[in-house]
Amino acid sequence: MEVAATASINVEDDVDNYSSAKLVKTLERNGITAGDIKKLQEAGFYTVEAVAFAPKKHLISIKGISEAKADKLLQEASKLVRMGFRTATEIHQIRANIVYVTTGSKELDNLLGGGIETGSITEIFGEFRSGKSQLCHTLAVNCQLPVSMGGAEGRCLYIDTENGFRPERLTAVAERYKINGDSVLDNVACARAYNTDHQTQLVIQASAMMTEARYALLIIDSATSLYRSDYCGRGELGERQQHLGRFLRILLRIADEHGVAVVITNQVVAQVDGAASMFGGDTKKPIGGHILAHSSTTRLYLRKGRGETRICKIYDSPCLPENEATFAICADGISDVKE
Ligand SMILES: Nc1ncnc2c1ncn2[C@@H]1O[C@H](COP(=O)(O)OP(=O)(O)OP(=O)(O)O)[C@@H](O)[C@H]1O
Ligand SMILES: [Mg+2]
Repeated sequence: MEVAATASINVEDDVDNYSSAKLVKTLERNGITAGDIKKLQEAGFYTVEAVAFAPKKHLISIKGISEAKADKLLQEASKLVRMGFRTATEIHQIRANIVYVTTGSKELDNLLGGGIETGSITEIFGEFRSGKSQLCHTLAVNCQLPVSMGGAEGRCLYIDTENGFRPERLTAVAERYKINGDSVLDNVACARAYNTDHQTQLVIQASAMMTEARYALLIIDSATSLYRSDYCGRGELGERQQHLGRFLRILLRIADEHGVAVVITNQVVAQVDGAASMFGGDTKKPIGGHILAHSSTTRLYLRKGRGETRICKIYDSPCLPENEATFAICADGISDVKE
């Protein structure tokens, strides 16, 4: 794929709202006071969608928002956000317009029905060195590409929990597409998360940033490692799952409100008691339990192949069969296996 050397990726837009979501300040026109809007923003509600999708009890828990105010907020927000039934025809049209971000490998893109879907959560799990972080780095560049090249023309937010983010891996991918490396780096904002509270704080911040610039991708690499270190043993499992559930709800909201692709990585553990181990099959399973399983729309299982090759299997998807594809980790990112 060749682009003119002068091509610099323009992810800016001249409209003042950069995501498909409506800024919460538009509620002022519906009679909500500036003071209440400020309270909403301070509580992490930056868009009308965030308010409209919130259960009433979350709004009431904001200091200064009474039950009557919460009712009014929900009433006004729901006038601006469509939340009722649509025909399947309409949904079909909306889905036909969904943008997919190329993984860099045609084989893998074909397996995924075009690439990584925007507007939903894709979970990538697998053993260490299976290519999860390499795929994330490639996507951080590819999401900036023009739609005609498999991109989504937006920036990337990268939350790194394992100190694995390497800008030089992005530059290498940019060179492959002959796009300006400096602008590619400028379009990726990365934050290191140090604990699960901090990680949650960062995704709330991410949703605010998405109202100020056009983003196409949010990466959390990894979504679960800090949960493993912050919570130990069975005794804390309930508390851990509750916190993880809250974190994942914020991610779902971001995918919904801003239409960005959310990509999370996850580790595997050996399954000792499952039927698979009894019959000598693959005994690894993703961590995070049912809460993670139900939050991720598409779940991809990566495993090592020979040399730089890796195999991706669709582990769970609402519309893709459980097939596999082989790809390669190369110096310039994820690619097809070279014969
Ligand atoms: N510059 C590069 N060129 C080619 N291959 C590379 C390059 N950098 C890393 N790799 C390969 O990528 C693999 C590591 O993949 P990655 O870091 O994505 O694993 P991971 O699944 O994120 O693992 P972990 O669970 O430890 O985070 C290694 O096999 C390594 O050889
Ligand atoms: Mg990694």
